Amino acid sequence: MCGIIGYVGERPAAPILLEGLQRLEYRGYDSAGIALVTEQGHLTIEKAVGKLTTLVTSINGRTLPGSVGIGHTRWATHGKPSTENAHPHTDCRQDVVVIHNGIVENYLELKRALQRQGHTFASQTDSEVIPHLIEQECREGKDLATATRDAVRRTRGANAFIVMSSSEPDRVIAIRTGNAGGLVVGYGEGEMFLASDLPAILPHTRAVVFLAAGEMACVEAGQVTYATLHGEPLEKTPQTIAYDPVAAARGGYKHFMLKEIMEQPEAVTNTIRGRIQFDPPDVLLPEWPFLVAQTRTFERVVIVACGTSYHAGLIGRYLIEDLARLPVDVEIASEFRYRDPVVDDRTLLIAVAQSGETVDTLAAMEEGRARGMPQIAVTNVEGSQAARYADGALLIRAGQEIGVAATKTFTTTMVSLYLVGLYLGKVRGTISPEQLGRLIQDLAELPDLLGRVLQDESAYERLANRYARHTNFLFLGRGIHYPIALEGALKLKEISYIHAEGYAAGEMKHGPIALIDENMPVVALALQDGVYDKMVSNILEVKARDGQVIAIVTEGNTELQEHADHLIALPPVAPLLAPVVSVLPLQLLAYHIAVRRGCDVDQPRNLAKTVTVE
Ligand code: AGP
Repeated sequence: MCGIIGYVGERPAAPILLEGLQRLEYRGYDSAGIALVTEQGHLTIEKAVGKLTTLVTSINGRTLPGSVGIGHTRWATHGKPSTENAHPHTDCRQDVVVIHNGIVENYLELKRALQRQGHTFASQTDSEVIPHLIEQECREGKDLATATRDAVRRTRGANAFIVMSSSEPDRVIAIRTGNAGGLVVGYGEGEMFLASDLPAILPHTRAVVFLAAGEMACVEAGQVTYATLHGEPLEKTPQTIAYDPVAAARGGYKHFMLKEIMEQPEAVTNTIRGRIQFDPPDVLLPEWPFLVAQTRTFERVVIVACGTSYHAGLIGRYLIEDLARLPVDVEIASEFRYRDPVVDDRTLLIAVAQSGETVDTLAAMEEGRARGMPQIAVTNVEGSQAARYADGALLIRAGQEIGVAATKTFTTTMVSLYLVGLYLGKVRGTISPEQLGRLIQDLAELPDLLGRVLQDESAYERLANRYARHTNFLFLGRGIHYPIALEGALKLKEISYIHAEGYAAGEMKHGPIALIDENMPVVALALQDGVYDKMVSNILEVKARDGQVIAIVTEGNTELQEHADHLIALPPVAPLLAPVVSVLPLQLLAYHIAVRRGCDVDQPRNLAKTVTVE
């Protein structure tokens, strides 16, 4: 799940590549590299381990010659982060240069065959076999495009490559073999761009062509030709992306994550805007791709997602089951694709992915498609693969999220699934007009409630001071707050590197209670709802074993004051929307603990914003 970019034009390529890589860094930041070639075929390669800033520092303002070039930001799969393993990779003659996103599944067998032919390798990566394979094909007199096509056809796996050569310095070849990582071709005036996805090239152009799996592009400054992996020519017309790239500045905040946490009231307002109506009460989803008659045939829903989106999907189960009385299963996308699920054309697949590019989720969608499932994508990225692959896309409208830890995309996804629940409930007649009016009113009040919760961060700073050096945390919730316990634990783990577990509070006595002692902080979601009394019992059980309790409660709760070590009080909120509010304290707690520990909040180690490998 790396970021790849290419440029062919008349301007110096290096600044364009470096700027594009900055926008792709969310896909990985273990190393970065660029390669440039001049008209005369002079090749320059610059690489550095670590984030893009290291590469920029090592270039140190030098002017690198070449108006054709490619660039890469890496998330390591094969071979540790090192200069040798950084892309671009070349062949023995330093002629062919390749950047890659994906995994070449049969690289070992290809590498051994190439070694037998005399090729020597400089890295431990799977990617390096590609320039060697291409060079081998070129030895037979093939041009770069043909050699690339023939080489890539020998690989297995879902991959995207961009290839350049000092022998044909006026072009780059882009090729995509499967659904790992997208490839988009951007059309400029006398110049062309290539990238893993849109944000990297949108500052330059909005006229784009998305390469589908099994397609390649031969890109020159003023023209591009398309073909299949078998060499059949393809006609492709650029589409114009109506997208306003939000300036990704931190806007005075120390970290993007904090900015994005604070943006949630506005983001949720955007999710709702134009989709609800008060008089008469209605929910409007013009993007819903199915006719009412077909929608009424749905007998089940399966939600597929990964990570935080999976947690949003778990909340979606409560919402859709409650509002539309449809049974809902929620599956980790990487598990769904390897089962033999019992689904058919009456089972609606909802794929949740803020990026719309998560390869496991895309693969689950393909699996669903093969089984005839109608499907919608709930995503933040217009034009993403999930959005294009599904029958329809419901955009969550969170705005650009830069922090690797999902925050505003989580809350806006939950709100989007609430809208789906309302819509299905309306169509299926499980919600009366009066209920719909009340449910819509609840939704309209939500942004204001979120704003109130975010007004004061001081409590989280105090908690962070007290707990930042602890090495374990437990998060407990019941009912609709159980997935929030999972999400709270995930947030803390991923940005502070503290081991944390989320548990259904009722499961405590079946094992985790053995962990409780005076060193175990327990965050308990004990809001005023149907399972509140049960949560109180769980809190008392923790206290009886000397655990430290941080209780998230509803304003006015006095009962837990005497039992919990710390109380965080939230305004009363409608039960189905309560998780959207109750996750905010957990995001802030994780954030302040991570800051206190000196962690890299926006780009935590080993992670990437978009996971485009299995
Ligand atoms: C969230 O904080 C994580 N970085 C991660 O779990 C993420 O939610 C997951 O990779 C899924 O991403 P997606 O929504 O783009 O599919």
